[in-house]
Amino acid sequence: MTRCVCPGSFDPLTIGHLDVVERSARLFDEVVVAVLYNPDKQGTFTADERVGLIEKSVAHLVNVRAEAFADELLVEVCARLEAPIVVKGLRGETDFSYELPMATMNRSLSGLETLFLPGNPGMDHLSSSLIKQVATLGGDISGMVPEAVHGPLLERLGVAG
Ligand code: PNS
Repeated sequence: MTRCVCPGSFDPLTIGHLDVVERSARLFDEVVVAVLYNPDKQGTFTADERVGLIEKSVAHLVNVRAEAFADELLVEVCARLEAPIVVKGLRGETDFSYELPMATMNRSLSGLETLFLPGNPGMDHLSSSLIKQVATLGGDISGMVPEAVHGPLLERLGVAG
């Protein structure tokens, strides 16, 4: 059995993230969506809330589960989960420049490999932070986040649905 990890902040999960998770679920026997700590990002949802939103959004995928990991390196999480591969989506060159050092660092730390999936072209503009900014200023974000995320996100940001 081959297990992979889809790691990220997921604050919150977008349909771009979900696309990568769905594609990973077709490539691997089991997928763990790992909510991890990114010191460069401030949280809108707690780690447990993010896991809850992810679990609702992936309920249709039988081989996918979500879990949060605090104060831990991704390589340690993957070793414990017996997952030799992480999967990440790439929206373009900026993502590649951001992801490549992390992938190389992880491989040098433990041999953990990173598989990059090209982002769906129609989703290249989607990021959690941009979606939150648009929603906060009254823009329509329907179709940018899974159904299960839409209401809770508007509520957390204090904007009417
Ligand atoms: O969605 P993000 O914020 O781009 O994901 C980045 C994340 C959370 C995967 C990365 O910051 C991470 O792996 N954090 C866990 C701690 C760790 O292993 N840091 C070293 C990465 S080389």
